[in-house]
Amino acid sequence: MCGIIGCVGREDETLDVLVHGLSKLEYRGYDSAGVALSGERVDVCKKSGKIEDLREALESRSIGGAAGIGHTRWSTHGPPTDANAHPHLDCSGDVAVVHNGIIENYQSLRDELVAAGHTFKSDTDTEVVPHLVEDALADGLDNEAAVREAISRLEGSYAVAAAVSGDDTIYTARNDSPLVLGIDDEAEGQEAYYLASDVPAFRDFTDRVVYLADGEFATLSAEGWTVTDEDGDPVDKDVDTVDWDPEETGKSGYDHFMLKEIHEQPRAIRQCLRGRVDEMAATVDIGDLGDLSPTGVQFVACGTSYHAALYGAQLLRNAGIPAQAFLASEYATSPPPIGDALVVGVTQSGETADTLSALREARKRGARTLAVTNTVGSTVARECDHALYIRAGPEIGVAASKTFASQLAALNLFTLGTTRVEGKRDVIGALRDLPSDIQAILDDSNAEAVADTYVDSDAYFFIGRGLQYPVALEGALKMKEITYKHAEGFAAGELKHGPLALVTEDTPVFAVVTGDGEMARKTIGNVKEVEARDAPVVAVTDGQSDVERYADHVLEVPETHPQAAAVLANVQLQLVSYYVADELGRSIDKPRNLAKSVTVE
Ligand code: AGP
Repeated sequence: MCGIIGCVGREDETLDVLVHGLSKLEYRGYDSAGVALSGERVDVCKKSGKIEDLREALESRSIGGAAGIGHTRWSTHGPPTDANAHPHLDCSGDVAVVHNGIIENYQSLRDELVAAGHTFKSDTDTEVVPHLVEDALADGLDNEAAVREAISRLEGSYAVAAAVSGDDTIYTARNDSPLVLGIDDEAEGQEAYYLASDVPAFRDFTDRVVYLADGEFATLSAEGWTVTDEDGDPVDKDVDTVDWDPEETGKSGYDHFMLKEIHEQPRAIRQCLRGRVDEMAATVDIGDLGDLSPTGVQFVACGTSYHAALYGAQLLRNAGIPAQAFLASEYATSPPPIGDALVVGVTQSGETADTLSALREARKRGARTLAVTNTVGSTVARECDHALYIRAGPEIGVAASKTFASQLAALNLFTLGTTRVEGKRDVIGALRDLPSDIQAILDDSNAEAVADTYVDSDAYFFIGRGLQYPVALEGALKMKEITYKHAEGFAAGELKHGPLALVTEDTPVFAVVTGDGEMARKTIGNVKEVEARDAPVVAVTDGQSDVERYADHVLEVPETHPQAAAVLANVQLQLVSYYVADELGRSIDKPRNLAKSVTVE
């Protein structure tokens, strides 16, 4: 939700580096974008719309400077207009600020500043920051002290960066919003330093990163970088190396990131399993999590990650461990008794505000916490007692695809690695086969033809039971997100308790039926109920049951263990949503109103 970037040391390339970085951060928001470069003066160019609109606006501007900051916005305070686009300036035009997060006390700060004679040009919360810096400068503080002073007045969440006229240093700080520095100081005389909300923004230039913690303040200048704490004392930071290549953040010839990421699922699963499973010994080693031995588990998560959490809770219950999944945004409003349960936050980005605040609530109550995340160095990974990385690699499409598959794989590893569940060898074997099974689906799917048949439908329903219930929910969420069509997922047995009233000949029902046990038989009963109402049925099946007899279309998945079948069925549903959205000409990688990482509650 909003992306910020900054760079020093790139001389004439500063503007290009910023705009390139913003294009890599566009998944975080695409309502408006802007840059500020500081030379003798601070020069700003900003525009509502996507990065392309900013690029166009820059064509008619001459803007330069040795240091710069940039922003891509997902609106929270005020509509997506040019005026509300970042960077925001103070009255003198000498201080430019970009911000990701929400300043909770902005109204009182704004009232105070207006009363003191400041003029505001936007509706944003952010604009208070440059005016606060302006006041501190007027009080005689130097640039760094003035930015520090302004930041000390803020309540809420922020990653901010400030540039000041005549100064080639960029000042930056964070609280509850992600911020990472990029360090490129290996070639003497060509040192360059970056800051960003996420690594892809500068990954083309360096793989060396420093993750800032809440309360930390950093400076970047041609002379180097510093990090200090809230009291101004130096903090000794580790410089980490990221282990993925810049190409991983490109489209590699696919029309959309989402399609590329759907196709990356075999690799993502391989990465998730690498070095963690031993099929011969039927053992799983999930690293330095220690002996968690959970006696109870509460999952907290949002959106797609919540669907993964529902799946994880079932795995644990099947292993005899009491487990429940909660929507993170609801968890704190009525927290369940925690006892000695482990609280597990499932979050791809590791920055989702609702999930972070549910975990904080759990920690306040004394719970041990585990993060299941894709993002090394993320807030969730730093705040939780333990972290289990899903290792999916960067996911740029706003709609989660490969990270869901990797979350399911990681939750299998978690269950296998921390419980005495029976049949471990079979599950490990099925997990090992997942990459080739997914590849078989990708090579041979008829999802595009199914999408073509139903592209004009009014609404889509998805049903599944047991481990396929979260898949039904995820199928519907994907369809909503990227096609803007009405879609709902139901536990198959619930359909007859109300939703069946919505089922007509114009509403295809996607039924996920794998295996041939009691669950499959019951879901087939539900399929017959919708068939009797003339609804077209699309069965996602491994062919073990006779659901095909009642289906208008079949999306096949290879036969496997039920725990792996959920991952496979989901791939077919991802493809259907993708092709429906593509045929409708939707903005697949950046659906309207959405952002990849939702850092507000
Ligand atoms: C997924 O397609 C969505 N864009 C969204 O529901 C997402 O899963 C949710 O916001 C949680 O994100 P997280 O995994 O980064 O916490």
